[in-house]
Amino acid sequence: MQKQIFLIDKLKEDRTLTKQEWVQLITERTPEAAEYLFAIAREERHAHYGHDVYIRGLIEFTNYCKNDCLYCGIRKSNSRANRYRLSEEEILSCCRTGYELGFRTFVLQGGEDASYTDDRIVRLTGSIKDRYPDCALTLSIGEKSCQSYRRYFEAGADRYLLRHETSNEAHYSRLHPPSLIASARKECLWNLKEIGYQVGTGFMVGSPYQTAEHLAEDMLFIRELNPQMVGIGPFIVHRDTPFADQTSGTLELTLFMLGLLRLMLPKVLLPATTALGTIDPKGRELGILAGANVLMPNLSPTGVRKDYSLYDNKICTGDEAAECRSCLERRMEAVGYQIVTARGDSLNRL
Ligand code: SAM
Ligand code: FES
Repeated sequence: MQKQIFLIDKLKEDRTLTKQEWVQLITERTPEAAEYLFAIAREERHAHYGHDVYIRGLIEFTNYCKNDCLYCGIRKSNSRANRYRLSEEEILSCCRTGYELGFRTFVLQGGEDASYTDDRIVRLTGSIKDRYPDCALTLSIGEKSCQSYRRYFEAGADRYLLRHETSNEAHYSRLHPPSLIASARKECLWNLKEIGYQVGTGFMVGSPYQTAEHLAEDMLFIRELNPQMVGIGPFIVHRDTPFADQTSGTLELTLFMLGLLRLMLPKVLLPATTALGTIDPKGRELGILAGANVLMPNLSPTGVRKDYSLYDNKICTGDEAAECRSCLERRMEAVGYQIVTARGDSLNRL
């Protein structure tokens, strides 16, 4: 316990640890050390973001994907997935609903769907920014060329989410088909940063074959990238993937990693993810209490929600956007936080 407290204090002081120290802190964590960590993480969060919680309206606009990530329920080989894509009008209608509910950030997320060409993404980006110039637009549509990223940015996209998934190359190759490699994904992140996006990266906690060394490497990579946002959530099994018999990640380790991220990058935006709310009914509240400050409720039409099934038992697939919004408001108030209507740009500057 003494060693744990020492390492947490050192992290707060130096904002980083050696790989060895990360491994030790993660493997020898105790409930008491976690409580200590969360208390300091909350202090940091309150110092920079107060008790505000930013909301992002997530629009899952296509579940077609050319990739075959082994963990993902919408991978191309999952013939049981019920495929859909939203039209541009449907996406704009989601934005309209979201705007009326107080959302000032929209996140367009989808599989890597060739029918959404660069021209279409550029047009859609322009339409959203024309209609809602006071809103931030985030894209999360996977690995693209530097030139494509540049075109979206010039069309008005402000932010890009691309989790690095795992920093370790060998681990990455056990989670993905041979066509996908860790270095290419990282290269995309560096390109996005260079272009001027506010960048989000992240990883799944408890993904198959993950070790404490891998998590240590994730922390070192994130420290180096210094992104504006870090999205982490537990890996959750999907029954129609090659990982159907694996074990899901835990609430406990995900919360611990959230606390560590808040101490390492005090001004970063840190969502309490839907996956966290899926493995525990109070997961998102506990995420906020561990240092998170963002929620990403779903704005997709209810008719397609259950088809964007990345993992089993995903929550909120039946609720209208307005219900989700008020449910989250109540949940946040119950733990002493408030949802705000703001773009919520990162204080972790480029
Ligand atoms: N295609 C885009 C991309 O590659 O970034 C965005 C969509 S992808 C489904 C979004 C994220 O979902 C991935 O980065 C991954 O971390 C997460 N994800 C996929 N399958 C998951 C699972 N079984 N459990 C938890 N998270 C999962
Ligand atoms: Fe493409 Fe999951 S495999 S989004």
